[in-house]
Amino acid sequence: MKPKTIIEPFKIKSVEPIRFTTREEREVLLKEAGYNPFLLPADDVLIDLLTDSGTSAMSAKQWAGIMEGDESYAGSKSFYRFEAVIKSITNLKYIIPTHQGRAAEKILFSIVGGPGKYFPNNTHFDTTRANVEFSGAEAVDLLNEIGKHPEIRADFKGNMDVEKLETFIKEKGVENIPLCMITVTNNSGGGQPVSMQNIKDVKAVCNKYGIPLFLDACRFAENAYFIKMREKGYENKTPLEIAQEMFSYADGVTMSAKKDALVNIGGFLAMNDDELAMKCRNLLIVTEGFPTYGGLAGRDLEAVAQGLLEIVDEHYLQYRIRSVEYLGERLVAAGVPIIEPPGGHAIYIDAKRFLPNIPADQYPGQSIVCELYLEGGVRAVEIGSVMFGKKDKNGKLIPSMMELVRMAIPRRVYTQSHIDYLIEVIIEVYKNRDRLKGYQFTYEAPMLRHFTARFKPII
Ligand code: F0G
Repeated sequence: MKPKTIIEPFKIKSVEPIRFTTREEREVLLKEAGYNPFLLPADDVLIDLLTDSGTSAMSAKQWAGIMEGDESYAGSKSFYRFEAVIKSITNLKYIIPTHQGRAAEKILFSIVGGPGKYFPNNTHFDTTRANVEFSGAEAVDLLNEIGKHPEIRADFKGNMDVEKLETFIKEKGVENIPLCMITVTNNSGGGQPVSMQNIKDVKAVCNKYGIPLFLDACRFAENAYFIKMREKGYENKTPLEIAQEMFSYADGVTMSAKKDALVNIGGFLAMNDDELAMKCRNLLIVTEGFPTYGGLAGRDLEAVAQGLLEIVDEHYLQYRIRSVEYLGERLVAAGVPIIEPPGGHAIYIDAKRFLPNIPADQYPGQSIVCELYLEGGVRAVEIGSVMFGKKDKNGKLIPSMMELVRMAIPRRVYTQSHIDYLIEVIIEVYKNRDRLKGYQFTYEAPMLRHFTARFKPII
């Protein structure tokens, strides 16, 4: 038989209890946290969907690798395994371990960035943008038009606008664009994939002007699986073969291993250019550590190497993508507005359509996030005007382009019944949406205010 039910491709050897609370308890807890779930102790959360980063469950083989880790300062055996596995996927010459993705970004952009430089990307993730801008350079998003419309269903909404890229290069000058980047999958645009054709087309433009192409490859395996499912000519290829082809167009990679390497900490920078690699390694020694451990322990290198072998398993990826899709399907069937189609690692509720009566300056996304916690102990994150809102010179809010709530699914952590419970909670919140209130700030930090902000409901 060809089974219809896609099951979790693992059995559970070690469990971590989750703590139940009552709505009354959660009302007190949320108030104490200033109506900002970032400020809740994780133990007061039942289902934690704040991020899929560093929250994966490791396999028995990864834990075994932790015991095997070689903690030699230089030339650790674990480094050579780490390097060999990454080379077998990326075929890049230099592999530089870092403690997480943003450390790789910091090193790269400290070297190639600086005032007067520009970095195109489909959409920069916030830490990537921050590292580009911190160097004095400008981060420019050149997302394909279709990726900007939450309600339009399309296969590759993470694609870069290739025409815009070429115009951009001509306008700013090749000498001011040290590299071009593509983020797979496009986290800030809803976890949407990028097609192989788009990667090839971007590479062709980059080649024409002699600009290196880097991939922000945090979720490369999820992207590879979407290509297998949706792009002609790839249906019979393995996810590993597809990933290898994706990387064959790249001159370098930044990677947060906290996503598609199934570990709780780790990352790397990889590239072919000899001179750039030498500069990166020199800076790595100052900021992270010796080139054979970077910012990591030997045991972490082992866990990353093993995680990278496991992530390209077809059964895993089928379960991963299908379980997010399943959640999305149930929500759409109940009328809940989300970014369609669902991305690889998260469901994004469109708060503008969910709460049309709550204006941006009363933060509809925050209102949903609070209610998800109150209703079911679920922690999600606002990605809208709380996170990205700016202010005009009179202090009036300039809202973010979209008002979203992200529910990121940790890898191999929750089972289908957790997801079914989550669906019930979201639908209940949606049914009661007329009762939801707007929120106002009672405290906000001057930068990255969403992490520490406090709010109160507008009554
Ligand atoms: N690039 C992308 C596309 C990311 O999603 C992240 C992290 C990073 C880079 C930075 O990696 O956290 O290891 O330093 N995203 C997490 C998230 C934080 O919740 O989406 P890091």
